[in-house]
Amino acid sequence: MIQKKYESDFLVIGSGIAGLSFAIKASRYGTVNIVTKKRDFDSNTNYAQGGIASVIDPGDSFDSHIDDTMKAGGGLGNRKAVEIMVREGPSRIMELVKWGTKFSYASLSRKKKFDLGREGGHSNKRIVHAADLTGREIESALLNKISASRRIKIFENHTAVDLLTEHQLKIKNPYGKIHCHGAYILDNESLRVHIFSANFTLIATGGVGQVYLHTTNPEIATGDGIAMAYRAGASIGDMEFIQFHPTSFYDKRRSGISFLISEAVRGEGGVLINSRGEKFMKDIHPMKDLAPRDIVARTIDRELKRLGDDCVFLDITDRSREFLKKRFPQIYGHCKKAGIDISKDPIPVVPAAHYLCGGIISDNDGRTSVKNLYVSGEAACTGVHGANRLASNSLLEGVVFSHRAFLDMGKIIESRAGRKKIPNFPQWSKEGTFDPKEWIIVNHNIDDVKRVMWDYVGIVRTDMRLEIARKRIIMLAEEIHTVYKRSTISFKIIELRNLATIAKLIIKCALKRKDSIGLHYNSDHPQPYKKLKRVVIRSDHKPRLISNWQ
Ligand code: FAD
Ligand code: SIN
Repeated sequence: MIQKKYESDFLVIGSGIAGLSFAIKASRYGTVNIVTKKRDFDSNTNYAQGGIASVIDPGDSFDSHIDDTMKAGGGLGNRKAVEIMVREGPSRIMELVKWGTKFSYASLSRKKKFDLGREGGHSNKRIVHAADLTGREIESALLNKISASRRIKIFENHTAVDLLTEHQLKIKNPYGKIHCHGAYILDNESLRVHIFSANFTLIATGGVGQVYLHTTNPEIATGDGIAMAYRAGASIGDMEFIQFHPTSFYDKRRSGISFLISEAVRGEGGVLINSRGEKFMKDIHPMKDLAPRDIVARTIDRELKRLGDDCVFLDITDRSREFLKKRFPQIYGHCKKAGIDISKDPIPVVPAAHYLCGGIISDNDGRTSVKNLYVSGEAACTGVHGANRLASNSLLEGVVFSHRAFLDMGKIIESRAGRKKIPNFPQWSKEGTFDPKEWIIVNHNIDDVKRVMWDYVGIVRTDMRLEIARKRIIMLAEEIHTVYKRSTISFKIIELRNLATIAKLIIKCALKRKDSIGLHYNSDHPQPYKKLKRVVIRSDHKPRLISNWQ
């Protein structure tokens, strides 16, 4: 079988909320190829529980949502981007409804009123949800809509390896700036790497949770898009801000993905208690159990260390079984299978890596620093989350900024400035590579990266832990680079290489920060900088501290 060339007007890498919602719109302007590395619904989006935040309630206001978002982000957020996200949110949500998403309504008799939930850091009820299966509902509505389009083609089990930019040709860019023309894509089954060229490429590859040993994220979350963009020379920012969700289900074996116990459970009255039955959040923050996530996760971490316990507990036993089964069918069922009736027993919970606030830096229209390369969703660093994301703001960010990226590309297409001749990229070369055979080396390296990150680059950091992590990851990354260069290309090798890059980026950004803010807490430097700073890194320069978003 020979390597193929696929051409389309738009190439979308990833089939979560960011990629799919963009593709639906972009198809108005031309053909869209979506590549996705597993099945079409495999995404973080499909796992989202709590919901999507937006100002819907007449008693709520845009200003309140903007303030909550800025406050949760430690003041490091990009105010302009936050305003855009919040103000454009309601229209995007109504669009999701128009496309077939069935959110939960307050009661059957008042059908048109959303049942609004409450989550940490929000001063109003503003979480639109579909019971505790919000992501699955959105994902299936989007896929359904796409299945009716003849202009959109989804390539499942196709993994993006690297972007087609001048760095692949080893030539100077004829247009001045680095320019993206698509990507090399591996067909996971045939193991052929094909060229997918396009006038516009959108990275919508989601987050990086799999770089940690314990995470709520599914297996796809290995930061591929960010690693690819970094190699191609794009600016990357805020990688030190990893959000640990305070409450994932504590399973004694702690293997595989940590099942999430939605913050909405606390929104419905759930209270955190330690093994002595003490309500330990009550004196920590005025919002108690609904304080922003960085604060709750750090407090749990402190309780576990103080008492030498393996988990804390989330108590929602005040609510009736009927209510819990209806409001949280998935959580109720998961706990029941594990032998816990949540209407009678507190749920054992621990923090787990959940969300990346940083990523590929983009402007308010999804543009990256590489021409014709856009980014949206969790892979993007729009600045809306600052140093810590407010709950349920990420589905919102994805859908709002994908819309803006679509509008921006539309303008370029209409002005006919978008089409450039696509250079001839060489076919993928297999020369000098062979089947690694010793898969034990690959598996061992993946485990090592995850463990180093969990033990040394977790909720509470110190200079010494970060320095140890840096040395270990650099050593591992060199070894992984050698394995990558010599091995026949495969899905697993691609992910391993990207995980090593992501680990390096997180550590480098964390080391550059000599302060603590939001999700980055270094006990050797417990105070924030007097003047707020961001960290930006590129493959051709070390991390730099720059002034906050203007
Ligand atoms: P994703 O939905 O993760 O999609 C990424 C896509 O890219 C996938 O299809 C993946 O297969 C594909 N991909 C990745 N790499 C490659 C590659 N190399 N080649 C091809 N394809 C690739 N946020 C909220 O706002 N509200 C919530 O209630 C909420 N609950 C959550 C619960 C859980 C358990 C988790 C894990 C996250 C939750 N989040 C929530 C966060 C939110 O789900 C994500 O931030 C959001 O869905 C990201 O959307 P996305 O489109 O950017 O990426
Ligand atoms: C949750 O349901 O707690 C997750 C919400 C989010 O990550 O935004």
